[in-house]
Amino acid sequence: MRHALKVLLAGHPGQTLTQVETLLAEQRQLLVTTRPVNTGETLPLSDLQASCDAIVLVVGEDWRSTLEACFQPGTMANKPLLVVGLPGDLELLRMSMRIGARDFFSIPVSATDLIPALDRVATEEYERRGALSARVTTFMNAKGGSGASFCAANFAHILAKGQGRRTVLLDFELQFGSLPTYFNLQSRNGLVRALELVDTLDATALQGYTQQHPSGLYLLAAAAEGMVLPEDIHEERVAKLFAVLDDAYEELVIDLPRRIDRATAAVLDRSDLVMLVVQQTVAHLHELKRLAALLRGEVGVASHRLIVVINRFEKRGEVTLKDFTEALPGLRVETLPNDYRRVADSINLGIPLLEQAPGSPLCKALKGLVESLSFPGAPRVPQARGPWSWLAGKHT
Ligand SMILES: Nc1ncnc2c1ncn2[C@@H]1O[C@H](COP(=O)(O)OP(=O)(O)OP(=O)(O)O)[C@@H](O)[C@H]1O
Ligand SMILES: [Mg+2]
Repeated sequence: MRHALKVLLAGHPGQTLTQVETLLAEQRQLLVTTRPVNTGETLPLSDLQASCDAIVLVVGEDWRSTLEACFQPGTMANKPLLVVGLPGDLELLRMSMRIGARDFFSIPVSATDLIPALDRVATEEYERRGALSARVTTFMNAKGGSGASFCAANFAHILAKGQGRRTVLLDFELQFGSLPTYFNLQSRNGLVRALELVDTLDATALQGYTQQHPSGLYLLAAAAEGMVLPEDIHEERVAKLFAVLDDAYEELVIDLPRRIDRATAAVLDRSDLVMLVVQQTVAHLHELKRLAALLRGEVGVASHRLIVVINRFEKRGEVTLKDFTEALPGLRVETLPNDYRRVADSINLGIPLLEQAPGSPLCKALKGLVESLSFPGAPRVPQARGPWSWLAGKHT
């Protein structure tokens, strides 16, 4: 599970601030907000740090006025703080420690020092948030019509209604999305609108774009009107949307088209689990092997995050379960039975399987899949670490 780390870059306006801003902008895993602190201005960081994961503070020769502008006397940063300043000033180092800095970088700052330090913060943040942040389960078919949308819809519905998890289902099939019909809901364009307006989006505004099913499941639908081209969806917007959804939901379930572009790569990057839905034919097996190799290689999805779902599985099918497991060593393979009539009824009536046929083998298999992937345990306790942690308690 990888999150974009929200970085607040604050400090004295000038060459160094611009240089650090450029350097951070090249990092896909960072969402950077820059706040210059002009001389004489006050910018209490206590007001701003609630919405970020880490702070990079750039100070110049007049570092005292910048620190005064950002920290009221006796206050400290309550997010990981990295200070960038002129080398060789012991008093600046001491003051940086006082305000809770965990690292100091000398001007001119190099990417090879600063980026690994932020990556360490991101890793700690991920460990700290653990179960607190939303789990992302993405469904993608390895060949058209395999049942990815049906599986995504019913997986999400079981999470919401069967497990009581606060769940949102996202239809990234932006041109031909059809998920509302699976729930007898009106077609709307909530996901596209939310992506368009993501810069001003928060958990409250998000409610204007989601549709709620009586089961408690939320839906961010697509493709009711207008035309969206894949290149119109920027990966930064996707990352920002995830940041908002993370705060509002426990589970994100995504129906993702079989296409690799920057936006779908951003979704895959943030996915805890990627379910590759196929059917039981030689052609599906070939496509699956190609897709799995692409995801593991080019996109960098680790094997433990990939699960193959053979949908409409029959024991006497032309390709066996063993054929799949042998062709894809190291990947978990699950099966879902064929049930043409119940699936057709469920889709035609807009009633999810757990409500329409809860005792059917297919629904039981889906429930079993959801339960076997249940979200583990309680949040972990944060660990304070950093280059100066051995000083903790001595200088505060
Ligand atoms: N387990 C199943 N048993 C019987 N029929 C199924 C099953 N799962 C899906 N189907 C059928 O397969 C059809 C295609 O399903 P779905 O639209 O979910 O596939 P998809 O992979 O999302 O396709 P697309 O390429 O259009 O996105 C559905 O209309 C449904 O009738
Ligand atoms: Mg589909």
